Amino acid sequence: MPKSPAPPPPPLPIPAVWRSDLDRILLTPDQIAQRVEQLGREIRRDFAGRDTVVVAILNGTVLFLADLIRHLDFPLKLDFMGVSSYGGGTTAGESLLTKQTSADVRGKDVLVVDDILDTGKTLDRVTLHLRQFKPRRLRTCVLLDKKARRQIKIKADYTGFQIPNEFVVGYGLDFAERYRNLPFIAVLKPEIFLAGEVKRPAPRPTKAA
Ligand code: IMP
Ligand code: MG
Repeated sequence: MPKSPAPPPPPLPIPAVWRSDLDRILLTPDQIAQRVEQLGREIRRDFAGRDTVVVAILNGTVLFLADLIRHLDFPLKLDFMGVSSYGGGTTAGESLLTKQTSADVRGKDVLVVDDILDTGKTLDRVTLHLRQFKPRRLRTCVLLDKKARRQIKIKADYTGFQIPNEFVVGYGLDFAERYRNLPFIAVLKPEIFLAGEVKRPAPRPTKAA
């Protein structure tokens, strides 16, 4: 008898404290860790022996960046850029640089790291800015890619996961600055962002003193 393929693992349950805000877990900590390791391997192969500057875009990359660079075993410099969108919330407006790189990228191999490629405005803005300093080579790496939302024709050189057109939080990604600390990536319930404000999770019951 031919073996039937193994059934997919059951979805990871959402921790109770987040259940009212999150629809479902899209990527588990294990799936993220495995993919980040693979990305690290690809980048290592392409960048080894080069004078490299990793430019990470604040704030959503913090967790991804910390995990990714631990897989890069060659000397590198780390720098950060800030980009804000006039849109706010879950809508994307024009991109504005709020922090420019302070590393000298001229003649260097540059790897730009961002959390998610959505409309493409952020990555386009950042790469245009960096190119004026004439890096030897400029590559881009994003953990997530929401292709359906693209407004600018741009593609990352390294992509962790293609995801559907839904608003996601966790593993660095926020909504209204919250949820960055979740160890997984989850789809935010539409009613949370449509309400325009983040409700606080119900307080945990405490033992009477
Ligand atoms: P873009 O400029 O439209 O490509 O957007 C990129 C930025 O928008 C990312 O760096 C994120 O900060 C934010 N963003 C886009 N989609 C999401 C999402 O689903 N969750 C959280 N942040 C997002
Ligand atoms: Mg971001």
